[in-house]
Amino acid sequence: MVIIQVVQTKGTLLLNDNRESLAKAAAIIKQGGLVAFPTETVYGLGAAATNAEAVKSIFAAKGRPADNPLIVHLSDRNQLSRVAREIPDEAKFLADKFWPGPLSLVLQRSEYIPAEVSAGLPTVAVRMPDHPVALALIDLAGVPVAAPSANKSGRPSPTSYRHVLEDLTGKVDAVIRSSICKIGIESTVLDLTGPVPLILRPGGLPREDLEKALDRIIGVAVDRINSLQPASPGMKYRHYTPIAPLILITGRETMRRQMLNQLARYYRRKGFVIGLLNISMHHRLKDNVDPEKLAAMLYSYLRRMDVAGVDIIIAEEVSFSGIGLAIMNRLKKAATRVLRV
Ligand code: TXA
Ligand code: MG
Repeated sequence: MVIIQVVQTKGTLLLNDNRESLAKAAAIIKQGGLVAFPTETVYGLGAAATNAEAVKSIFAAKGRPADNPLIVHLSDRNQLSRVAREIPDEAKFLADKFWPGPLSLVLQRSEYIPAEVSAGLPTVAVRMPDHPVALALIDLAGVPVAAPSANKSGRPSPTSYRHVLEDLTGKVDAVIRSSICKIGIESTVLDLTGPVPLILRPGGLPREDLEKALDRIIGVAVDRINSLQPASPGMKYRHYTPIAPLILITGRETMRRQMLNQLARYYRRKGFVIGLLNISMHHRLKDNVDPEKLAAMLYSYLRRMDVAGVDIIIAEEVSFSGIGLAIMNRLKKAATRVLRV
């Protein structure tokens, strides 16, 4: 006998990631329900992308602002022409080269995808995740799956099913219990509807890889929190908020070190519990400064700081190259204050 259901808490099923359990999860999606599933970036909260009512319930479960569009996930590259239209050659080329993988392409939305998915925008963001469980689930569901990160809005994205349970137990139909996410930071969102390719959100696929593949410079939209016309609706919200204030120190390394020492002295005198995020001089945190490892652990560190009840978090800048661009984007969004020395 195969055990499908592991636990049920407050109406949320905790499912295994074996084939039988995934068939059950797919059936839930087909019926208009919500299932949290693993991807190589972060856990997603999926619903049938073709079902407007199901898509609306994603926003309700997360407490997500209605004007922030969702990414549509495919299990097969050939589904692209159903969800998008007027697909430029560069999009086809990038999909062939980087899918499955952490790259979401913003294209013109087809009528197959309801406006609710894109919060009314004429475009749609699409990606094919590089994770066997995600691909099997989408395939079994038989429809593209709309999915934001499976966290409560404003919380760090979940990189383990435990994070999903912390935020969404009782609010979604099922959570798939699978391994932790390899990359740990969300996909790169690339807009291909304008005159030049534009990164709306730096993520798991480095800008350098995209520029090399396309053999041209691509832009990176600058986040302006509370801006009236952000390039991507998601950019105007301050995301990834830990409970304690986070101070991000940027500038030359020697100066950063001096600043860190001053801050640590000050807060220690006040009796504060200090959480150090990625501090280059801290030997025990060495893994913390390898950019790939830091990306993989970043959200989990932020959540742990909350659980540990730290009073203040201090983080240091990392290089903007490779995945560093995405790390710095998230750190800046999590920061209550950025100190440049
Ligand atoms: O790695 C990921 O991308 C994860 C996994 C689950 O695939 N998903 C994810 O989704 O991070 P979410 O909803 O947390 O972030 C989607 C981002 C938001 O910043 C949103 O504004 C942007 O993509 N986005 C989605 N559709 C868009 C569109 N049509 N135009 C511009 N930006 C869009
Ligand atoms: Mg998110």
